[in-house]
Amino acid sequence: MRFFYCFSICNASFALFCPAMEEADQLCLAAKSGDLKKVQTLIYSGADVTHFDNDGLTPLMHAAKIGNAEIVTALLESGAPWNALSPSNLSAGDFAMEAGHQETFDLLLKTGIQSELILGTIARNQTKNEYSNQEYLQDRVSFSEDKLMDSESKGVMMAWEKPLMEAHAKAICLNGGHILNVGFGMGLVDTAIQRYNPVKHTIIEAHPEVYKRMIESGWGEKENVKIVFGRWQDVLDKLDDNSFDGIFFDTYGEYYEDLREFHQHLPRLLKPDGVYSYFNGFCGSNAFFHVVYCNLVTLEIENLGFSTQLIPLPVKDCLGDEVWEGVKQKYWQLDTYYLPVCQFSD
Ligand SMILES: C[S@@+](CC[C@H](N)C(=O)[O-])C[C@H]1O[C@@H](n2cnc3c(N)ncnc32)[C@H](O)[C@@H]1O
Ligand SMILES: *[C@@H]1O[C@H](CO)[C@@H](O)[C@H](O)[C@H]1NC(C)=O
Ligand SMILES: *[C@@H]1O[C@H](CO)[C@@H](O)[C@H](O)[C@H]1NC(C)=O
Repeated sequence: MRFFYCFSICNASFALFCPAMEEADQLCLAAKSGDLKKVQTLIYSGADVTHFDNDGLTPLMHAAKIGNAEIVTALLESGAPWNALSPSNLSAGDFAMEAGHQETFDLLLKTGIQSELILGTIARNQTKNEYSNQEYLQDRVSFSEDKLMDSESKGVMMAWEKPLMEAHAKAICLNGGHILNVGFGMGLVDTAIQRYNPVKHTIIEAHPEVYKRMIESGWGEKENVKIVFGRWQDVLDKLDDNSFDGIFFDTYGEYYEDLREFHQHLPRLLKPDGVYSYFNGFCGSNAFFHVVYCNLVTLEIENLGFSTQLIPLPVKDCLGDEVWEGVKQKYWQLDTYYLPVCQFSD
């Protein structure tokens, strides 16, 4: 679990207007049967578009399931929540995706991206105060053979991610040279980076216990390694302009806004043909929300002059249920990991 915020999600407690309940159930039925006229009439007469029927589904979910783009549009325009979740934690976008309804999927994706771009900053800002990066950095962490956990038994880093970290290392070491990694964790990505014999390898780490362990295990004595102890927010200024051929970012207890803030430094730090990658773990328990966030980051990085390629890597095989024993949150539940490779656009 790297990023605490996915986004606020509506649930069944939203059904507030009892008198309109009957109409709202009719709306679900009309959406389910693809009856656009009926849907329009019910919306017009004030039926609650946020209603969850007895199966815990909203009208939008029903319309998404059958891939009726017109009904989906009508519902979205009337304020139906795109991010409501069914009892099995699926959103309308997941239903469209599962059934292969491209047009409906695209509509929901566009709505999700727009809503997160505009409203996301405000909503995320409100959750931001709940658990801060600074609090995490002052808490104890615990190491075991296959994981690093915070004081609440949430996984900071886990061994199943080793193949992903090796793929990240390969991507950012493409040009050799000088590599920067932010966040040491279990040292998986740094061990992989070392195999590419970079000329210089800078590692930023802010947690005192993680730092201590780095020193104890000899990372301070490696000839090409430079460890910078501190939060990236405080130490990035010390790094030279245009000095890195590859950069990887993977911290803990931070938020989407922090990643965005880090990205502001990229144009200064990265060489013109350098490669940047980050741990792509937003909303790792919902496939559709994850797609929304993949698109969001790509868009925002594009505005800084970078193009992003997302390379699909299957992860199902490294993730049996036993992996999560004793860990408080399953931060990743998807079958595919999308590894971002970002470079300056021409
Ligand atoms: C998920 S782990 C990194 C895992 C690493 N990629 C690996 O392969 O093992 C995140 C690391 O970032 C560190 N960290 C958290 N916030 C930080 C910050 N603001 N600046 C620098 N490091 C930070 C954590 O202490 C932790 O060691
Ligand atoms: C849905 O998500 C909630 C919150 O993360 C979780 O407590 C619940 O077990 C999930 N339900 C299912 C069916 O996966
Ligand atoms: C975020 O929250 C802080 C304090 O909680 C506030 O000062 C700031 O204006 C907020 N920013 C946005 C974009 O809402």
